[in-house]
Amino acid sequence: MTKFFAIISAKGGVGKTTTTINLASALLSFGREVIAIDADLTAPNMSIHLGIPNLFRSLHDALEGKVPLSACLYYHPSGLRIIPGNLAYESSKGINLGNFKYMLQELHGKAEIVLVDGAPGVSPEAQTIIDAVDYVLPITTPDLAAMSDCRKTIKMARELNKEIFGIIVNRVRGESHEVDVLNIEAFLENSVVGVIPEETTVRQAYQLKSPVLYTHPEGNVSVAYKQLAAKLVGEEYHPTKRQKHVPSMTREILAGWNFIKK
Ligand SMILES: Nc1ncnc2c1ncn2[C@@H]1O[C@H](COP(=O)(O)OP(=O)(O)OP(=O)(O)O)[C@@H](O)[C@H]1O
Ligand SMILES: [Mg+2]
Repeated sequence: MTKFFAIISAKGGVGKTTTTINLASALLSFGREVIAIDADLTAPNMSIHLGIPNLFRSLHDALEGKVPLSACLYYHPSGLRIIPGNLAYESSKGINLGNFKYMLQELHGKAEIVLVDGAPGVSPEAQTIIDAVDYVLPITTPDLAAMSDCRKTIKMARELNKEIFGIIVNRVRGESHEVDVLNIEAFLENSVVGVIPEETTVRQAYQLKSPVLYTHPEGNVSVAYKQLAAKLVGEEYHPTKRQKHVPSMTREILAGWNFIKK
């Protein structure tokens, strides 16, 4: 049975898209079937993170009823499957998530896990995304402003009777001014399931238009995402265990690739 997760926070820029891409890639590295969806309708930038040059179809087309959702799947050379949003300003006008919840049902059986990259804010859009999934993964950085916004997301999820799978804390540098995990858990009244360090590998991967899992598979960020992925699928993470799917991609290959629409 397909499980749907939303990676979401009312706060912008905390790493929702980065985490959706890399958590999906970590799950893929365990041999799991995954689809990542960019459901941030007004600022969909997953395709930029992964370098899709031209979008033939997108979530926006599916929402407008032009094509089925499954016709909007793109494959990254790493094997990651994503459903991107349309970047054009014109596409963002007058669109809403409408029947997103029902559209998602179309993906049942097409993947084991579907990760939805949510929109920031406490908007109807964010509400629709939370309502559409089985589990919520609220994400924050270790500072009070982000935590305060994240708490709004958690309250919204509670109002919708959604299960909080656990909190993701991103961009952790281990500096003394940061709020520590125990205090984050106390403030957000939920357990932390993932702690992702701040690392330059994330920006390097972004420059290479690829998940950090593929550019730096053994880096600290990749290991942290693999640990989180293991929790999602209820497995123990063994760092030494050979992963099923870790292609070695050179900078040249990554620079030259195109998305293949299937
Ligand atoms: N662990 C990390 N280490 C270093 N940089 C990071 C990390 N996580 C995210 N970033 C950087 O932070 C910026 C924001 O990340 P991202 O776009 O994933 O956030 P977002 O929550 O999706 O933002 P938005 O609300 O605009 O959609 C990006 O430049 C990304 O490369
Ligand atoms: Mg984003």
